[in-house]
Formats: sequence, C-alpha cells, structure tokens
Amino acid sequence: MPRAVVCRVLGPPEVLNLEEMPRVDLQPGQIRVAHRAAGLNFPDVLMCAGGYQHKPPLPFTPGFEGAGEVIEVAADVTAFKPGDAVVTHFRTGGYAEEAVTRAIDAWPVPAGFSFEEAASFTTAAITSYAGLIQRGKLKAGETLLVLGAGGGVGLTAVEIGKLSGAAVIAAASTPEKLAAAKVRGASHLINTKTEDLRTRLKEITGDRGVDVVYDPVGGDLFEPALRSLAFNGRLLVIGFASGTIPSFKANLALLKGASVVGVRAGEMVRRDPGLAEPRMRQLVAWAAQGHLKPHISHRFPLEQFRDAMRIVADRKAVGRVVLTM
Ligand SMILES: NC(=O)c1ccc[n+]([C@@H]2O[C@H](COP(=O)([O-])OP(=O)(O)OC[C@H]3O[C@@H](n4cnc5c(N)ncnc54)[C@H](OP(=O)(O)O)[C@@H]3O)[C@@H](O)[C@H]2O)c1
Repeated sequence: MPRAVVCRVLGPPEVLNLEEMPRVDLQPGQIRVAHRAAGLNFPDVLMCAGGYQHKPPLPFTPGFEGAGEVIEVAADVTAFKPGDAVVTHFRTGGYAEEAVTRAIDAWPVPAGFSFEEAASFTTAAITSYAGLIQRGKLKAGETLLVLGAGGGVGLTAVEIGKLSGAAVIAAASTPEKLAAAKVRGASHLINTKTEDLRTRLKEITGDRGVDVVYDPVGGDLFEPALRSLAFNGRLLVIGFASGTIPSFKANLALLKGASVVGVRAGEMVRRDPGLAEPRMRQLVAWAAQGHLKPHISHRFPLEQFRDAMRIVADRKAVGRVVLTM
C-alpha cells in the first residue's frame, strides 16, 4: 500500500506519522498520481498545529502540492493518460506516495523542470501572481518592496515583480536569502537583521517611498513598511510567518491615500473559478520560458518529513524545501 504522512492530532511536526493508506477508487474526473516529489509550504506547519485559516477534519495528510506520473485515470478523463508527468495542487494530500486529484487541478510539468522543481512551483507562484497582479495591480515602472524575500512566496514575488517591469527591493534576514533574491532579479537588498528598513527605503527611493509592499511576514516590519509607502501605495497582506498579526493606525493609510489589501490566492478562485485557468496558464508559460524557477535549499526523503517541516518552521529554508519519493 502507498504511504502518506498523517496528522491525527494537532501539534508540531513530531506528532505526525508515516502510514500505509488504502487506495480509494477514482471518481469521475479524477486521476491517480504516483508522486516523485512534494513541496512544503509554511501553511502546512500552521495547519498541522491548528493555526491556519483552513482547518480540515482529522485525520488528514498535509501538503498543497506535488509532482509525479499519472498511473490511472477515470473513464471520462481525456486530458491525461498513464505515464504523463504532472503537477498536482490541492488543499491537503501532498505528503504522500500517491495522490488522487481532479484532472482539472493538474497541469503538465513545465518544460525543463525536474519533478522537485515542479512540486514546489505552484502554490508560491499562484500566491505572488494573485497578490501582485490580480490584487495589487503592480505596474511597470513602479517600486516593489518584498518582505521575507528569501522565503518560498517571497522569491516568487521577486521574480514576478521583475517580470512585471517593477524595480524590486528585497528585504530578508540573512545574506544567503538576499543573495537568492538578487539572482532572481532584486535590484536593491536590505538585511532586516542589521539595517533599519525605513532608513534604507528612504535612501533607495529618495524619500518618494515604494508603490507596493508584499508582506508574507507581518510582525515588526509591517508598520515601517506601511510608513514607507508612496502616495496611492498598496500594502499586500499575504501572511504572518513571524507569528504576529500586526495592528496599525488608520491615519497612516489616510495620509498616503494607501490601500491595505488582503490576499487569499486559493479562496479567490473558489469564489470565482474563472480566475484560475488564465493565471496558471501565464505562470506555466513563464516557467517554460525560464523566467520562474523554484530555488530549492533542502531536499529530504519522505521518511524524513519531520526534519523537512522543522527547516520550514525554524526559518531556515531559502526558497523551497521538498520531499522526494
Ligand atoms: N495569502 C495567501 O494566499 C498565501 C498563500 C501561501 C502562503 N501564504 C503565507 O505566506 C507566508 C510565507 O509562506 P512561505 O511558504 O513562503 O514561508 P517561508 O518559505 O517559510 O518564508 C517565510 C519567511 O518569513 C520570515 N519569517 C520571519 N519570522 C519568521 C518565523 N518566526 N518563522 C518563520 N519565518 C519567519 C522568514 O524570512 P526572514 O528570515 O528573511 O525574515 C521566512 O523566509 C506564510 O505566512 C503563509 O501562510 C499566504
């Protein structure tokens, strides 16, 4: 029987186990995929601890995404056949040797991508596209500040910001994370451990401020980032990896004519399914052209899923962490 990581009680990665799972029959429209890799995302850790907005019933298998080979298709599925290399994407189920998914939620592995790259591409890229393009309306010539720029969603925000023609300022806590952001197109780097964010942004933008802030971190950087917006600026609320949900004084938004914009990449398409196909098509096209490429700092076999989740939870990942099967 195929194995999967199972969360039966909420808690840290140490309470999860690898279990054999009985195969379920395919329903119409579904495919079965033998995963070769699965990508980790920070929300996996939160979900297993009970701290994420989506709370699936127990037990569940964490993981938003994977990649592998199709091994079975339902009788009505024509888009894929056994042997096809595909990317999978769901709300739970990624950390598993086999996954069942709707064919419409799967995509061919982008040209030139390994299974590991394909397995760690979708969630972060969709989040940054939803934030910067669909919600933030980022335009060519604008200035973009990416906080947590060396993390999973942060690095894709650097890439998509650059692709949009924006000048990208990357902020992160280590030289290694900043170096990864520079390779992906950041033109200015701010080390948030050793430099003052506001002072550096004033130096870089000449007092004008930044047009868009992409914030997956929250915590102490939120207010200086909000104060550093240009007039008509947008601050995109992506997440709170710091563990602290910030509060702010509303006059800061008024003074700048600014918008604080919430981003929920998955919920957007559950409410408006028509948004999904064009954004995924654009992301896969950029990936196939070599403009988007996940940076993978750590790889672990499935059996070492706890070590992999610890790297993410302990802020040590640069870009992405993947499990291999
Ligand atoms: N809105 C959406 O639709 C959506 C979709 C996917 C993910 N998210 C959210 O985006 C956030 C980032 O996800 P991710 O997968 O990119 O995570 P990640 O790879 O772990 O990156 C998060 C970054 O946050 C910073 N950070 C600051 N304090 C931290 C702490 N105590 N623990 C961990 N990281 C800390 C780190 O950057 P520095 O070390 O440079 O400070 C880290 O690189 C999460 O909050 C997640 O829930 C939102």
